[in-house]
Amino acid sequence: MRSITLLLLLHTLAPVWAQERPVTRLSSPVVNDSADTDLLPPAFYRGRRQALRDSLPAGGVAVLFAAPVRNRSNDVDHEYHQDPDLYYLTGLREPNAVLFVFKEPQPVNGREVKELLVVRVRDPKREVWDGERLGSEGAMVRLGLEMAITGEDLLQVTMAMDERHTRFMALPKDPPANDPRDPADLQDLMATVADRTAKAEHGPPERLRNWLAAMREVKLPEEIALLRRAIDITCEAQVALMKALFPGMTEFQSEAVVQFVFTARGAEHEGYPSILGSGRHSCVLHYVTNRRIMANGDLLVSDVGAEYHGYTADVTRTLPVNGRFSTEQKAIYELVLKAQDAGIAAVKPGAPFRGAHEAATEVITQGLIRLGLIQKADEVKRYFMHGTSHYLGLDVHDPGTYGPLKVNTVLTVEPGIYIPQGSPCDPKWWDIGVRIEDDVLVTADGCEVLSDCVPRSIAEVEALMAEPWDGVLPGLR
Ligand code: GLY
Ligand code: MN
Ligand code: MN
Repeated sequence: MRSITLLLLLHTLAPVWAQERPVTRLSSPVVNDSADTDLLPPAFYRGRRQALRDSLPAGGVAVLFAAPVRNRSNDVDHEYHQDPDLYYLTGLREPNAVLFVFKEPQPVNGREVKELLVVRVRDPKREVWDGERLGSEGAMVRLGLEMAITGEDLLQVTMAMDERHTRFMALPKDPPANDPRDPADLQDLMATVADRTAKAEHGPPERLRNWLAAMREVKLPEEIALLRRAIDITCEAQVALMKALFPGMTEFQSEAVVQFVFTARGAEHEGYPSILGSGRHSCVLHYVTNRRIMANGDLLVSDVGAEYHGYTADVTRTLPVNGRFSTEQKAIYELVLKAQDAGIAAVKPGAPFRGAHEAATEVITQGLIRLGLIQKADEVKRYFMHGTSHYLGLDVHDPGTYGPLKVNTVLTVEPGIYIPQGSPCDPKWWDIGVRIEDDVLVTADGCEVLSDCVPRSIAEVEALMAEPWDGVLPGLR
């Protein structure tokens, strides 16, 4: 009891201590004990900045901001997630930052530089609460930026931006909130940058994001390695779930199995909220409530993706909760699988982006007519109402050009059939929702299914589901 009281007291006192006790040690720990030994190196990000520079016209200046901090409620924020374009160019994970990439070297504080990163100032008092900040020196040393300054410095910096320059600016998607305690929050940085670059020509607002979309569409080998890792972790989670699933389990318990594997294998996050929709929820495309008790005879759509060092997987399996597909479930599952095979076969260099969707839609249309679920081809959207593919990378729905497929692009192939209650068909089909989603790399001679580490066929899925899961992962005991 006494120790609990003491703990409470310490906790209550903590803010006062933080304000009163001087904390001066700002240097990084000497020992590098991070488990993350495979983060992409500064040279990768330097190369990406150079590729962007190559896209800029003479006099061009690219300006990108960090993602805003998002408030969850009261004094608690959501976990911070960087703007993927800024991350792709810097590796920076901190908020309140601006990146300038200049086509030609520009004088900044009297020094000619090709790039400038504005970051948060180091702040001993804040770092007691939120952890170490990179600061301007850290940004140069650890991220390899040619020049980095703090947000406070940006107010004083001398930087000529006039009609000889064209500004290409990517604003945050949502406006940031004002932090009255911070003179260099994102709002302040945006206002300062707008002021500093006001005399420059203003390029079309979408141009910078479009250049970055074209760059991000084609992955470099280092990015493919991280995607493979994210996908392998996700496969392991899907296999664990197949073994763990039983009637009476809740959707959130199935989510816990997935999350356990993600975290135990070093994924920092889910790439998107896990979709674990059973029974009627199998027909809700982006269901994330995950509170239902699963019943004997249900299907579970498990659409999950680990995010590893920023790169996310996106893999869906549809599982019979009791381990055996019913006759109707089997018919729909086989049809979706056949559609997916047709979609995957359409993925090759030079093929149209929509080729996979068209191939999958044709199979599903003919199959639904054969099963008597629809009469005419144009009714197919009633049960297959989404696209078949999207790019995959730092975003689960990664940007790209949607032009002909290019080697080293990664995309999903994910047809589905969803027959909610009340659909105009025999009720024996109701509540059957099936999606099968794999992550596919375009290769010189076709494609590679990166997520084939988790089986798809009915026989393989049922065989795996018959195996026990003891809750322990190999190598962790
Ligand atoms: N997980 C969302 C999607 O498959 O697009
Ligand atoms: Mn997807
Ligand atoms: Mn998905």
